[in-house]
Amino acid sequence: MADEWCDVLAEDQMQKGWVTLVEHAGRALAVYDAPSGVYVTTARCSHGGANLCDGYFDGHLIECPLHQGAFDVRNGSPISAPATRPIKTFPARLSGGFIQIKG
Ligand code: FES
Repeated sequence: MADEWCDVLAEDQMQKGWVTLVEHAGRALAVYDAPSGVYVTTARCSHGGANLCDGYFDGHLIECPLHQGAFDVRNGSPISAPATRPIKTFPARLSGGFIQIKG
């Protein structure tokens, strides 16, 4: 259900300070261990569909490995060209040793 929290990754499986690819309910998700907390977005770049989990993560920014477009993982906003459309984000939290999302 979209309004319930769902486990997507055990906390001890998350790459510390980096981005982890997760398959959940038929979707590829990117789980970010950022300085201010955990964030989750779709793993597919909105520009050309590359896997953002193969990109470079720093602070709150994920840089796409294909054309180096970048996004703010806190809200999905495109930060640098050629990315112009946001990526989908999910409400996320740590609970009971798991990263959970809604949606
Ligand atoms: S596929 Fe990500 S910037 Fe082009």
